[in-house]
Amino acid sequence: MTQQLQDEALDLIFRKARTHNVWLDKPVPDDLLRQVYDLMKWGPTSANCSPARILFLRTPAAKQRLAPALSPTNLDKTMKAPVTAVIAYDQKFYDNLPRLFPHNQAARGWFANNAALAETTAFRNGTLQGAYFIIAARSVGLDCGPMSGFDNAKVDAEFFPPSAGPSASPESQWKSNFLCNLGYGDASTLFPRSPRLDFDEACRLL
Ligand SMILES: Cc1cc2nc3c(=O)[nH]c(=O)nc-3n(C[C@H](O)[C@H](O)[C@H](O)COP(=O)(O)O)c2cc1C
Repeated sequence: MTQQLQDEALDLIFRKARTHNVWLDKPVPDDLLRQVYDLMKWGPTSANCSPARILFLRTPAAKQRLAPALSPTNLDKTMKAPVTAVIAYDQKFYDNLPRLFPHNQAARGWFANNAALAETTAFRNGTLQGAYFIIAARSVGLDCGPMSGFDNAKVDAEFFPPSAGPSASPESQWKSNFLCNLGYGDASTLFPRSPRLDFDEACRLL
C-alpha cells in the first residue's frame, strides 16, 4: 500500500487551507481541542523535549483579558473567534526530560546548566510545535488564524505571572510565542491568495 496522503487531505492541510480572519458562529467543542493536542504532540522535537504549552481562551471573559495586548488590527477578529490559543513554551521544559527522554538521564543537565541553550531549544522546538498545532487543527477540520501582532510581555504578565516557592504554578515558567485563532472561517470573506516562492527560488540541490 502506498503510504501517502491523498489530494483531499493535502488540500485540507496545505493547498486549500487559508488563514482566516472572519469566523462563522459555530462553536468549537473542547473535545476537538483535545484532539488537536493529541495529534500535534507526536511531531518531533529535539531530545523529545516537547516545550510547547497551549492556553486555550474560550470564554468572553478570558478573551477580554487578552484584549489589551492585541494590536488594533488583530483585536476585533480575535474577540469574535470561538477560540484563541496562546502558543507558549515552558522555560523549564527540561524538568520533564527524565520522563520524556528516559534512555538518557543526563539530558536534563544539558539544559538546566545552560540557560542560553535552554532558551534557544525551547523557542525553536516550541515554534515547531506551533506549526504542528496548525496542521493538526486543519486536519480535524478547524480553520486557523495565527498572529504575532501582540505584546508578548503583556500576555505573559496577564496569564503567566511570576510565582515562586512550593506552591509556584507551572504556568509561571511559560512564555508566549504566538497566538492562533481557531474556529470555522467564513471563506466568502477571503481575499485572493498571495503567491509563494517557487522551488528554484527557495531551494538548492547540492
Ligand atoms: C506566525 C504568524 C504570525 C502572523 N501574524 C499575523 C498578525 O499578527 N495579523 C494578521 O492579520 N495575520 C498574521 N499572520 C497571517 C499571515 O499573514 C498569513 O498566514 C499569510 O499571509 C498566509 O496567508 P494564507 O494562509 O491565507 O495563504 C500571521 C501568520 C503567522 C504564521
